[in-house]
Formats: sequence, structure tokens, C-alpha cells
Amino acid sequence: MKGKKIIIGISGGIAAYKAAYLVRILVKKGAEVKVVVTSNALEFVTKVTLETLSKNKIYDNVFGENNDYSTEHISLTDWADIMIVAPATANIIGKFANGIADDALSTTFMAFNKDVFVAPSMNTKMYNHYSFQHNLNVLRHNGVHIIEPADGFLACGYEGKGRMEEPESIVNFIENYYFSKLNFNNKKILITAGPTVESIDPVRYISNYSSGKMGYALANQLTQFGADVTLISGPTSLLKPDVTNFISVKSAEDMHLAVIDNLKTQDVIIMSAAVADYTPKIKATNKIKKSDNSFSIELVKTKDILFEVGKKKTNKQLLVGFALETDNEIDNAKQKLDKKNLDFIVLNSLKDDGAGFGTDTNKVTFISKDNKIEKFELKSKSEVALDIVNYIYKLIKKQK
Ligand code: CTP
Repeated sequence: MKGKKIIIGISGGIAAYKAAYLVRILVKKGAEVKVVVTSNALEFVTKVTLETLSKNKIYDNVFGENNDYSTEHISLTDWADIMIVAPATANIIGKFANGIADDALSTTFMAFNKDVFVAPSMNTKMYNHYSFQHNLNVLRHNGVHIIEPADGFLACGYEGKGRMEEPESIVNFIENYYFSKLNFNNKKILITAGPTVESIDPVRYISNYSSGKMGYALANQLTQFGADVTLISGPTSLLKPDVTNFISVKSAEDMHLAVIDNLKTQDVIIMSAAVADYTPKIKATNKIKKSDNSFSIELVKTKDILFEVGKKKTNKQLLVGFALETDNEIDNAKQKLDKKNLDFIVLNSLKDDGAGFGTDTNKVTFISKDNKIEKFELKSKSEVALDIVNYIYKLIKKQK
């Protein structure tokens, strides 16, 4: 961040108080920061705070008397290397996506033609609204980097997705992005995500707690970096990401068929789905009625999709697997890596707090086929996704 010239855009959400801390971290790291705010942002954080922390005048009014030039939004955008908008409300994202430029922040965004990072913040219901999701996808498609909000307790009293990512995580995300300029243009990447659902009868099934968040975070990021993503997903409650090819499946067998169908053309295959290892031998066509006796179900093994892909993959294709372990984590993950012929494996330990199913964070270890082990801290799933994406990028470069 040292020497980088950064515009921080702040719009009017409660998370605006965190933006002050974001300014402070960036200045501490040696960046030059200029702040642009909407008038609503100043309801949550004061001019004096932002000017003191950034050591610069803030830009809040297109027609203000204090501007150095009459067209401040143009001179600012010439000056800056990157722009970070945090918090980005549904309103400002709507303006960005639809070419509305009616205040200091939206005009600055429109005149800015370099890297923009946007950290949304809002109530879960607003976040899930089709109009907001449409607008977010417009930004994503046009190369804006989205730093996904986390799940958590929201200021409005709700719990759910919409809490702006913490300032430290925003900075990590951006630093990671600049370590390697990731470019996945023309790369075809297949990702499996979520759980599978194995029917017992028309109303009952066997499944697991996988949320699909890790695979969806990977799909979103790889799409932002230009990859042509095929996402094969079991049932999840997540919003469908804007990938090239989205295939919705239910059972392990459906997922197996979809993967094999799409395998040949892929450059990279990432198998993050939690596939059921067993499925009922008989799937009753009618609802099973209860009786006074105990009841048992005979289960048969499903195909290990990753193992099948490992047998079929060419040496031009990269294969990435996941392992979820509770004991002998490293040894078990290494065995999976060898047995399934992987290029690397991402190990999640269920022993770690905040790691594994359903959470928004994850603590992972990478093990490569040449036995290199890299351990990471507890991070948000989008940061973990970025670490995985960086690692894959290095492997692709090595192949050349
Ligand atoms: N996997 C798969 N098909 C299966 C089972 C697992 O493709 N039928 C993949 C997962 O997507 C993951 C990796 O294999 O990338 C490891 O999954 P995991 O459940 O940890 O291991 P298993 O091989 O199923 O072994 P175990 O459950 O005994 O640990």
C-alpha cells in the first residue's frame, strides 16, 4: 500500500464509522488517501474525523467552494491509483450500475477508469432483493471487485448477510489482489459446491450441513478475474452467482454425471462439494408409512467423483480437492491427495473454531503434490477463496 494513491468513497450506512478506521489503516501503511462522501455518509461520520485521519480535505459537494478545481471529481480520478467504496449502500450501488451521477461520490465513480473495490453493507432483505443483486452483477461484469459482506448481527437487529467486511479484511483483500495481478481470461474452470441430497422417498432425504459458501466464493472471484466458470451446485440457500454455466443438481449421481459431461474442456477442476459417500439402495416411489417396528435403510456407496476425475485428468488439467477432517488431519489429507491424483488439497479442520460448515470464516492448510504445506490464519471465506485463487494462478504459471 506504500505510496498508493487511494480514493475512499463512503456512502450513508451505519458501517460508515468503520470507514474512518479503514482510512487510518491505509494511511498507517503509507498510502495517500483522499475521501469522497455522500451527504448521507456525513450523518454517520464527521468531516473533521475523516480530514484528520486522511490528512486531506474531503470532497462532499460537487459545487463546493473549497474544491481545488471546479471539476474535482475529474482531477481526483486522475490523481488516484485505486478507489475503494466502503460502505457501499444499495442506493450508491444502484447509481453506479445505472449511470446515475448526481453527487460527489457517484460522479467520481463514473469518471474513474482504474481498479475499484466495493464493500457492500445493508440489511439482509435489501441485500437479497433482486434489484440489488442485478446491480451488483452489473458491477461485477464490468470488472468492479466486490468484497462480499459477511453474515452476522446487523445494526437493524437482523441477523444475516449484509455486514460490511471488517477494515482489516478489506485491506488484506486488496493487498492480496495486488500481490499478483490475477488474470484468468480464457481459462475454463469447473467448480463443485454445496451438499448433495440423497432421496429416501419422495419427502425424505439424507444430506449434510454444507452451505456451499466456499465454492460460491470461488466462483464469484474467478468470474471477476475473467475465468469462464461452470458451477455445479447441490441445493443451497445462496443466490445464484453470475457464472458462465450454472448447473443445479441434487444427488451425488447427478453431480457425477454433470462433472463427467463437462470435464474434457476444463483447465482447472475444483471440487469443493460435500458429496454424500452413501445413498439409499432403494429410493421408495411412495412415501414410507410409519409402523410400530424399528426401521433401517440399506445404504450403498456413491461414486467418488474426485477419484474418478483424478483417473481421467490430463497433465494439462489442474485438479484441486478439499478435505474435511477431525483427526490426523495432515496425514489423512495427504492420503486423499495421493489417492485422488490431485495437484493440491485444501484441508479444513473441524477442530478449529470458525472453520468448516455453515460459518463465514475458514481456517485452511494447503498441501501440494510435492508435499509443501502452507498453513493460513482464520479468515473470511472470500479471503480464503482469494488465497486459493492465487495458489491456482501460480500453478498455472508454473505449467507454462
Ligand atoms: N468427493 C467427491 N465425491 C465423493 C466424496 C468426496 O468428489 N463421493 C470429494 C470432495 O468434493 C472433496 C474430496 O473428495 O474435494 C474429499 O472429500 P471428503 O468428504 O473429505 O473425503 P472422502 O474421500 O469422502 O473420505 P472420508 O469421508 O472418509 O474422509
